Amino acid sequence: MPTVTLEPNQITLEVPFDTLLFDAACRAGLPVASSCSAEAVCGKCVMKVMQGAQNLSVPSDHELKLLRRDSRGANERISCMARVQGDCSVTTGYW
Ligand code: FES
Repeated sequence: MPTVTLEPNQITLEVPFDTLLFDAACRAGLPVASSCSAEAVCGKCVMKVMQGAQNLSVPSDHELKLLRRDSRGANERISCMARVQGDCSVTTGYW
């Protein structure tokens, strides 16, 4: 199973292939900003990918639209849309 590391706390957990980043963080007990209940609308659940960006699902057109709308960087993903398909490390500005 892929491993997700949540920085800066260095919380590491194994998750099933295709687990949402959002769900991985919740499973680890960390809060994830959201005002749409992970319905891929608000964009608040964005996470910065520190390592393993290539191990996340390819962003959909809808995710790319949200990232552009909110002027997000190339290393940021909408966590309720990005799926873990290999080892990765992510963070937010509030952990
Ligand atoms: S929680 Fe709203 S877009 Fe992810």
